[in-house]
Amino acid sequence: MKRIAIFASGSGSNAENIANYFKGSQEVEIPLILANNPEAYVLERAKKLGIDSVVVTNKEFREADKVLAIMQEYKIDFIVLAGFLLLVPAKLIDAYPGRIVNIHPALLPKHGGKGMYGDRVHEAVVACGDTESGITIHLIDERYDCGTTFFQATCPVQSDDTPHDVAEKVHALEYKHFPHVIEEIIKTLD
Ligand code: GAR
Repeated sequence: MKRIAIFASGSGSNAENIANYFKGSQEVEIPLILANNPEAYVLERAKKLGIDSVVVTNKEFREADKVLAIMQEYKIDFIVLAGFLLLVPAKLIDAYPGRIVNIHPALLPKHGGKGMYGDRVHEAVVACGDTESGITIHLIDERYDCGTTFFQATCPVQSDDTPHDVAEKVHALEYKHFPHVIEEIIKTLD
């Protein structure tokens, strides 16, 4: 059994979707959701899902020791960033080499980097007149939105689409693909 912690900063609709996907799984369990914002709606979702949650400050996250201790306490094998907006510190990456995956709501390397998250990404896609967008699921390294890409899926962007329209299409791709891509990655772990 592999134990996943999900890190999220906001609504947490992906976290909930992933938790529901793995409910009852013999291979994967999700004992913990970590947030860096005490107001994040993902904490409500964790409560409803019956999953433990923990909130750390941005400073604690950067320093990593408290987070590492929590990961050890919960015997976490793998970390999923699902709408998590902080840069992951080297200490945590070193403790989980090849075992931290992120989802970005666009086709990296386009529209990535510091400050590019959530609706800002969809606004940039529309402002650039892109004809497609999509999702990128990738391993993380010490830079924003870099690291080996595992999976991309695309959706068309029409010339009259608003950022909200693009967000809806991208969220649909996230819900459809993120859980099973996580499952595939987990299968490759020893
Ligand atoms: C998702 O679209 C995710 O791809 C994005 O934040 C949203 C979170 O939604 N992540 C980033 O932009 C990271 N750079 P959710 O909280 O409802 O899952």
